[in-house]
Amino acid sequence: MKRELAEAARDLAAYIRTLDEDLAGPPRPGAAGPKPAPLAVPAPAAAPVPPRPVQDIPDMDALAGQVKACRKCGLGYARLNAVFGVGSRKARVVFVGEGPGFQEDHRGEPFVGRSGQLLDKILETVLGLKRSDVYIANIVKCHPMKDPENPEAHGNDRPPTPEEMSACRPYLEEQLRFIKPACIVTLGSVPTKVLLNTDKGISVMRGHWYDYPAELFGPGGRIKVLPTYHPAALLRNPNLKRDTWEDMKMLKAFLETGKISGQD
Ligand code: URA
Repeated sequence: MKRELAEAARDLAAYIRTLDEDLAGPPRPGAAGPKPAPLAVPAPAAAPVPPRPVQDIPDMDALAGQVKACRKCGLGYARLNAVFGVGSRKARVVFVGEGPGFQEDHRGEPFVGRSGQLLDKILETVLGLKRSDVYIANIVKCHPMKDPENPEAHGNDRPPTPEEMSACRPYLEEQLRFIKPACIVTLGSVPTKVLLNTDKGISVMRGHWYDYPAELFGPGGRIKVLPTYHPAALLRNPNLKRDTWEDMKMLKAFLETGKISGQD
């Protein structure tokens, strides 16, 4: 027992050291960001075209095409690229963030900025996985900007509005239907509140397993949900790395055994 504890402490220390060494660089220019501007969602330039109901979509490629053409909310008119999702379409775990930022909008891929690099490190050091082994997506597929006229500005990110999230949510649900993962990891408070339909904060929700409130793939087709901190929160507050490590250990145990400890 003593030996196991010592090994766990050593693993944790190594994990924290790795994350610190790799991500300790100077803050990005403009990271402090300009003073937040008032929320401004552009008026659609043309009448929004409603997408076909998601049930009609035959596969992920067709869904990705629909997301690329989506104008269901103002974000679709301001983004540079729709950010559909990345990774294995047979993944057993789907990581869900809030929405794309500057880097993601430019590259068309989720979690490619500093938060994404940290997420990759966590996947590698705790779970022994690459991003191509899991699936990574966001609640909203387009970059929410404070100033939508200025997609080249840094410090222009803002959280998605409830309307934007409701407009985009069916795409995520359809992605989950195609992938049929065993579990979802919600990264931070926004996806946790939205997917678990709760008002509770992430520090209360993290570290526990929940059931996704809807059966997305038939009777009994339950998906487990494990909330944890958003990697951006770990960049701001390194003390949260330890809890995140605990959460990832819970995920690892579930992926290895198919069971949640303490439950049959
Ligand atoms: N933060 C998110 O929530 N999603 C991304 O894709 C990048 C940063």
